[in-house]
Amino acid sequence: MQAVVRTKTDRWRSPLSSALFELLEELRLRRITRADYQKTLLNWLDREGLGNALAPEISEAMASHQQLELLRRHVNECRHTVLLYRVDEGEAHPPHEHFNMISTQVVLAGKIHLREYQRKMREDSDHIAMKLVRDAVLGPGDVFNASEWESNVHWFCAEAGPALIFNINARGYEPSTFPNLTDPGFGRLYVDPTRFDLAGTVHGVEISPEEARQRFGWRRLSEFPVPDCALAAANGESISISLSTERELAQVL
Ligand SMILES: [Fe+2]
Repeated sequence: MQAVVRTKTDRWRSPLSSALFELLEELRLRRITRADYQKTLLNWLDREGLGNALAPEISEAMASHQQLELLRRHVNECRHTVLLYRVDEGEAHPPHEHFNMISTQVVLAGKIHLREYQRKMREDSDHIAMKLVRDAVLGPGDVFNASEWESNVHWFCAEAGPALIFNINARGYEPSTFPNLTDPGFGRLYVDPTRFDLAGTVHGVEISPEEARQRFGWRRLSEFPVPDCALAAANGESISISLSTERELAQVL
């Protein structure tokens, strides 16, 4: 049956706009895996040269406190969005988990201190066991991915000036979701990841958005030290893409 497509925002001037739709259709119809989708997308973004391709939009987004939405499409019950957003120096996006969302985020400017966690199991109605998988400072071209079963929880803050992030997120495309007793379906839950056991496992507690802002808003991640046993295991892969088309030109010349 033909999918019902409703395009709400359409200002991404790139052939990737229609290519993304086709790729996500493959994912929605279970012809490719989530890993295939993320790998292909990163390949395309690397060749696109986002810094060059989005130069006017980058200036616009850097000058604004609002996120700049480039594309928003609803496809049956699924949704995907492409946007740019600025993070001011010292501004934190408090630690949060997502439900049924696959996101690919690229730092376009500035520096982002990022921590990523992998959920292991739900311990009770508002506690989850997690593992810290990455604690790193990202710069232009560096990528962080999230999906339901891999690096789902993240927390970040801009260091040394404002940062700009490019985000492609796809909601509703996951075949299964982590148990969520509070708010099933799409959405996010904030979680305090600062309690560790002796083995380095994080015993996170889900908290309200207000509580998350109070505990973590406008505070740097370095104010919340991580024990050595947890840091030792935080060896998540670092991924980078090119922000200019120079790499392609160099190959041609
Ligand atoms: Fe997020």
